[in-house]
Amino acid sequence: KPVAAFDLVIFGGTGDLAMRKLLPALFRRFADDQIPLQSRILGVARETQSDDDYRERVREALDKAVNDKQTLADKVDAFLDLVSYRPLDATNDEGWDDFAALLNEVDDHVRVFYLSTSPRIFVDICRRLKQHDLNGRGARVVIEKPIGHDYSSATEINDAVGAVFDENQIFRIDHYLGKETVQNLLALRFANVLFEPLWNAAHIDHVQITVAETVGVEQRGPYYDTAGALRDMVQNHLLQLLCMVAMEPPASLDSDAVRDEKLKVLHTLKPINADNAGQATVRGQYRAGAANGGSAPGYLEDLGQSSSDTETFVALKAEVCNWRWAGVPFYLRTGKRMPERVSEIVIQFRDIPYSIFDAGSGSIMANKLVLRLQPDEGVKLWLMAKYPGPGGLRLQAVPLDMSFAEAFGVQQPDAYERLLLDVVRGNLTLFMRRDEVEAAWRWIDPILAAWERSTDSPRPYAAGTWGPSASVALIERDGRTWHDGD
Ligand code: BG6
Repeated sequence: KPVAAFDLVIFGGTGDLAMRKLLPALFRRFADDQIPLQSRILGVARETQSDDDYRERVREALDKAVNDKQTLADKVDAFLDLVSYRPLDATNDEGWDDFAALLNEVDDHVRVFYLSTSPRIFVDICRRLKQHDLNGRGARVVIEKPIGHDYSSATEINDAVGAVFDENQIFRIDHYLGKETVQNLLALRFANVLFEPLWNAAHIDHVQITVAETVGVEQRGPYYDTAGALRDMVQNHLLQLLCMVAMEPPASLDSDAVRDEKLKVLHTLKPINADNAGQATVRGQYRAGAANGGSAPGYLEDLGQSSSDTETFVALKAEVCNWRWAGVPFYLRTGKRMPERVSEIVIQFRDIPYSIFDAGSGSIMANKLVLRLQPDEGVKLWLMAKYPGPGGLRLQAVPLDMSFAEAFGVQQPDAYERLLLDVVRGNLTLFMRRDEVEAAWRWIDPILAAWERSTDSPRPYAAGTWGPSASVALIERDGRTWHDGD
C-alpha cells in the first residue's frame, strides 16, 4: 500500500550514505509503487550543481546499487522526476529563504528532513529549520549515528535537536533494526509458543552476537579513527540486537512499549570499567594479511598514518543482571577485515540434564538457534536426531533450516527501505528513543575510559582472520567457543 505523498530532504545528499543506501532504497520502494508520484526528494549539500547534474549522479548511483536492470531501465526516469537539488550551507543564510519557499509550495505532504551529515552540523541545520519555521506541521527529522562520541556529547545533540523537534518527531536510525532477521526475532519470540518458555537462564547457556565484515575502513578513515569499533558498532547495532534478544515481551508493538523494554535491558547491563575491562573486553587492530583472495593492507596503511590506537575489532562479555538472564553471558564481537561477512545471533541452549543413550550413540550437542542477519537471512535450529539405518542408535546434530528467501520466494529488502517508509508513516518502533541512546553511552563510556587509562594498545590481528587470539581466550576461559559459522 503506498504511503502518503511526502517531501524528503536529504542533507548530505551527495554523500556516500545517500548515494549507496538512501536513494537506491527509495528507488526500490518507488519501483514497487509504494511512493506516490507527487512526492519530492530533494538532495541538499554545499556544492553548487544543477538539478540535472544531481540527477545524473543519482542515476549512476542507482546503476551501481540496483541489480534488477530491467526495473531500473523501466522506472528510473519517472523516479528521477521526483528528485531535485538545492545547494545550502548550514552555517550560512544564503539560499534558505528559497529553500523554505520551495517546501511551502505544498502544504499537504509529510515533511521529512534526513540529516545524513556529520553530527557536527546537526545543530546548525536544526536551528535554521526552526528559523524558517519548517519544524512544525508534523515534520520529522531523521538522524544517523553516531549520535555523539560519548554520553555528554550525545546529550548535547539530543538537547539541541530536542529544542527544535518534539521527541515523537525525531527518528534516530539504527539500520540494524530494519534488517529482516531482527524484525523476525520479534515474530519468532512472540508469534510462536515454542521459544518463550525456554528463553531464560534455566534453558539458555549463553548468547553470541557476531557482526563480522570483510571490508576495512575504506574511505571513512578520518571518521573511523575518531570512533573505533566500540562506538561505531557496539554502542548501537550490537547493543540493539542484544536488547531485542533479552527484552521482556512488550505489551504491544507500540513504539514506546517496545522501547521501554529495550531501555530496561540497557539499564540492567553489568558495568564494565577499569576493574573488569581487562577480563571482559578485547580490542584489536588489523594488520596487513591475506584477505578476499588477495592481500589486504593494514589499518595504518589504509589510514595513511604512522600510528593509531583505534580498535577495528572488539570482543566483549556482557551480562544482563535480572531474573531472566542472571548467569547467562552475552558474548559480542565485531570487526573489520574478518574472513567472511557474517552477522548472526546464536542462542546456545543448555545440555540435556541426563542422557539415556550409551557412549556408542555419539555425543549429544546442546540445541542451538542461529539467527542469520546476513548473508542468506534465515533461522537454523540445531536438533539431535537419529542417523538413518538399521545399525545401532547413532545420534547426530541436524539443522531445521529456514532461509527467508526460499521460504517466501521474495527478495529481502534492504533495511533502509523499511525504515524510510516507517518515517513517512510516523512509526517510531524501530527507531531509538533518546533515553536508549543515552543509556547505551552510559554503559560504553566506562569501557572507553578503562581503555584510555590502560597502557596496552589494541592487539594486532592479520587481515582475513577472526581477530586477536585473546578474543578466543575470552570465551574459552568460560569453557565455551565461538560459533564456527554453521
Ligand atoms: C555502519 C558502520 O553503521 O554499519 C559501518 O558505521 C559498518 O562501519 C556498517 O560497515 C555495517 O552495516 P551492514 O548493514 O553492511 O552490516
